Amino acid sequence: MEDPAVKVARLLENSSYAIVFTGAGVSADSGIPTFRGPDGLWRRYRPEELASPWGFERNPRLVWEWYAWRMRIIASARPNAAHYAIAALERRGLVRAVITQNVDGLHQRAGSKNVIELHGNIWRARCTRCGYRWILESPPSDDELPLRCPRCGSLARPDVVWFGEPLPEAALRRAFEEAGKADLVIVVGTSGVVEPAGSIPVHAKERGARLVNVNPEPNRYTGMADVNVEERAAPFFERLARVLGLELPRE
Ligand code: APR
Repeated sequence: MEDPAVKVARLLENSSYAIVFTGAGVSADSGIPTFRGPDGLWRRYRPEELASPWGFERNPRLVWEWYAWRMRIIASARPNAAHYAIAALERRGLVRAVITQNVDGLHQRAGSKNVIELHGNIWRARCTRCGYRWILESPPSDDELPLRCPRCGSLARPDVVWFGEPLPEAALRRAFEEAGKADLVIVVGTSGVVEPAGSIPVHAKERGARLVNVNPEPNRYTGMADVNVEERAAPFFERLARVLGLELPRE
């Protein structure tokens, strides 16, 4: 049985426009909890309380405490071999864009340049009143919560997309454009259940792109994938990098 890393390496080398689509599973090997897995965040917390406009309105401090906790986990995490390999594939010209549902910024920290963030970024805050946006260099301390706008003093919020909210227009448009151009889409670490993000790989597939699905569990894309890589992203991408002779930083 051929190593899927060899198969995927060949697909990448024979593709003219490959893109990568990622979810929380690509950061799982960095120690960042996913949402729906056995130890997923939505197993322990109620998403409508913590990742929704009405939850924020009811208890902004609780929501900020939850995001500050996630920021601390992310701040102490490092990109894993999957993030680094995807960035190396972009430098080699084999990957044109990374479309991510993640808000952790690990693709950028690993060196990916063309990253489309569909659900915002946990390191950015925005004012609920004047719309001012700014980068948080580190997780806010508890006595700073709930965060206030440095410009007008109103209540600020994490600049991420919550349930029931529209995705950033430009990011969504770019993502569908990339998916329309792709002849190969590598889906990594996502259940694919959240829309409209989950439809982006389907859009590529429907336009004739090959689809690789990297996930240790079956998911929405299992039935339509040309290659199902039933393993964790980090070890798979480590082998893929070796097959393609891509140098990854030694952690
Ligand atoms: N490598 C690859 N995939 C993994 C790994 C791993 N080490 N560990 C878990 N996975 C897979 C799981 O099998 C699952 O299919 O990652 C997927 C994670 O799915 P979700 O937890 O649903 O995360 P995601 O698909 O990113 O959720 C989409 O939902 O809560 C919202 O806005 C949030 O962006 C998020 C969106």
